[in-house]
Amino acid sequence: MSLMIKIIRDSDLDTVLEIVTRLWGDAIMVVHGDVFHIADLLGLKAVIEDQIVGILHYHIRDRECEILTLASLIEGQGIGSALLREIETIAQTASCEKLSLITTNDNLHALGFYQRRGFHLAALYPGQVTRTREIKPSIPLVGDHNIPIRDELKLEKSIQPTISEQIIETSA
Ligand SMILES: CC(C)(COP(=O)(O)OP(=O)(O)OC[C@H]1O[C@@H](n2cnc3c(N)ncnc32)[C@H](O)[C@@H]1OP(=O)(O)O)[C@@H](O)C(=O)NCCC(=O)NCCS
Repeated sequence: MSLMIKIIRDSDLDTVLEIVTRLWGDAIMVVHGDVFHIADLLGLKAVIEDQIVGILHYHIRDRECEILTLASLIEGQGIGSALLREIETIAQTASCEKLSLITTNDNLHALGFYQRRGFHLAALYPGQVTRTREIKPSIPLVGDHNIPIRDELKLEKSIQPTISEQIIETSA
């Protein structure tokens, strides 16, 4: 059983949209008030024997690579970690200074997962999810561990420059 990480293609879109809709209510993500349509985003898929078993969507702006979705359909087998490693390489190649993402106050599992992989808490947006519900009413009121979903938390991880960038910086 070999796990591969590949770029999401147009031909994957139906499956990917079905996964996103099942997990997050519909095919848009609203993060810090910005609306992202999944079909327009760059993404990675984790594949085992031709089946999509994980997805990650992202966008890059101002040398920051923001993860907009990350989901594993078979947890505890290394799929989420493999997607994260791949996006870190992509961000490094694109000369990004940091990786970032937003999660919600109820997602204690994701908060642990990211912090164990080098992310730190960078910002708290109290009440942001309550405001986002006006744009995306499908967000449930109560989330994991029976915790009311109210707030956004931003996590970040610094990206090390590539060896060639380090040489340029040193010789400049
Ligand atoms: C958060 C999430 C993406 C993690 O994905 P995952 O595929 O379970 O992640 P991994 O399997 O790589 O890692 C999970 C744990 O399994 C362990 N693991 C990995 N491979 C393993 C293996 N072959 N055997 C046993 N354990 C393994 C890892 O060590 C890890 O534990 P750790 O965090 O204590 O180190 C997943 O739980 C998920 O999709 N959650 C729902 C959506 C979500 O909340 N996304 C984040 C929104 S911001």
